[in-house]
Amino acid sequence: MSFPKGFYWGGATAANQLEGGWQEGGKGISCPDICTGGTATTSKRITPVLEEGTFYPSHDAIDHYHRFKEDIALFAEMGFKMYRFSIAWTRIFPNGDESEPNEAGLKFYEDLIDECLKYNIEPLVTISHYEVPFHLTKKWNSWTDRRMIDCYLNFCKAIFTRYKGKVKYWLTFNEINSATTAMGAFLGQGILNEIKPMDFMDQIDVPNNRFQGLHHQFLASALAVKMAHEIDPNYQVGCMQIMATSYGLTCQPSDQIENQQKNHIMNWFCSDVQCRGKYPNYMNRYFKENNITIHMEPGDDEILAAGPVDFYTCSYYMSNCQTADPEKQKAGKGNILGGVPNPYLKASDWGWQIDPEGLRYSLNEIWDRYELPIFVVENGLGAYDKIEEDGQVKDDYRIDYLRSHIEQMHEAVLDGVDLRGYTPWGCIDLVSASTGEMAKRYGFIFVERYDDGTGDFSRRRKESFYWYQKVIQTNGEDL
Ligand code: BG6
Repeated sequence: MSFPKGFYWGGATAANQLEGGWQEGGKGISCPDICTGGTATTSKRITPVLEEGTFYPSHDAIDHYHRFKEDIALFAEMGFKMYRFSIAWTRIFPNGDESEPNEAGLKFYEDLIDECLKYNIEPLVTISHYEVPFHLTKKWNSWTDRRMIDCYLNFCKAIFTRYKGKVKYWLTFNEINSATTAMGAFLGQGILNEIKPMDFMDQIDVPNNRFQGLHHQFLASALAVKMAHEIDPNYQVGCMQIMATSYGLTCQPSDQIENQQKNHIMNWFCSDVQCRGKYPNYMNRYFKENNITIHMEPGDDEILAAGPVDFYTCSYYMSNCQTADPEKQKAGKGNILGGVPNPYLKASDWGWQIDPEGLRYSLNEIWDRYELPIFVVENGLGAYDKIEEDGQVKDDYRIDYLRSHIEQMHEAVLDGVDLRGYTPWGCIDLVSASTGEMAKRYGFIFVERYDDGTGDFSRRRKESFYWYQKVIQTNGEDL
């Protein structure tokens, strides 16, 4: 078994979860900078005013800001062909609404990109990954306001022009469809409907704001695709979705319909707009039944039609089931995205049900729907790792998880899916997006940083590091 020639093996991270250096080089405050740490069972908190003595995990994260050369050298040692990272908006525009970019921020990413290119690692850049300048949240409630589009496009223009000739692949928004759930409002969109301290899992949800925000993001994404192609015809711009695979809990037609309806909203709505350049018909009914009114302006349809993406990317971690039976809906959550548990699957320590075959299933669905090149740009197992007495981290559970998913990706390739790359999440341990923990580790590289703020940030190769190195060397033949 082998993957297509030139397959992009690599890894993925996001600025706010690994860089630290939160006030260095003129960086402004971004939404994650006001979030405390949490645990698997206790929500992290949003504190609009920073509390003295409270630990904020993004402030130092894993100190990649000062150690990116060491980290990229480790990625190169594993044989990475692609590295997916994000650019912190607040390093380039500290408040988000300035007219001129911050040179220190541009220079930081230029050095980082040059470091990748030194090792022939292709950068895959997420323009906005779960962090909006907090100033824009306070000023306009972020993406609820149409003026965000211009701020975002200024940001795009600054990076598209500066990194021309060095970067080819861009993603407009990380997991844009997270905003179809209440949790995604602040996480994905920087929307905070009341500026006051609150639990992250207990945000005040105004669905209309999320969907209005999405409309502005769709416009921003379409205009960014157009701008990218004008600046450099070689640029390829993709969308990035959570692929939240789900199945009908039983073969009862009502369960299947329930599943189809949930899938429309969660999995297809955003990518239908971004790949096909128009709103799908099924949203009319959803908006009506949920009292959602989106303000659109004349010309918006044309903007969307003129900016479909060049390729499709997604994260894939887990699946769940859907049922129309209210009694069965009480059976508990299938995972962080809801649904009900699948009786055939095991779950991670965070309750995310592990489903390698679901990846093959979804890749086929995506390909059948869009016939665009696909990259799996996040996948992995968040787990509690331990350093053994001999100094090793024996993460065979992570190897099992990744191996079984790679096997299913290969099946999808045999099925005829045009799969171009695989960048597992958190290739180096970093701060968890949902819980703010370090304890939930995904990496091939262990970082000595703990949730009480201790640790010297030193790096060590886990067992999975050597395993993945071999996978890449053999283009997926030796698993
Ligand atoms: C994706 C995000 O949702 O999943 C990442 O794009 C995130 O930012 C990853 O870190 C894993 O989730 P978590 O909550 O385990 O960090």
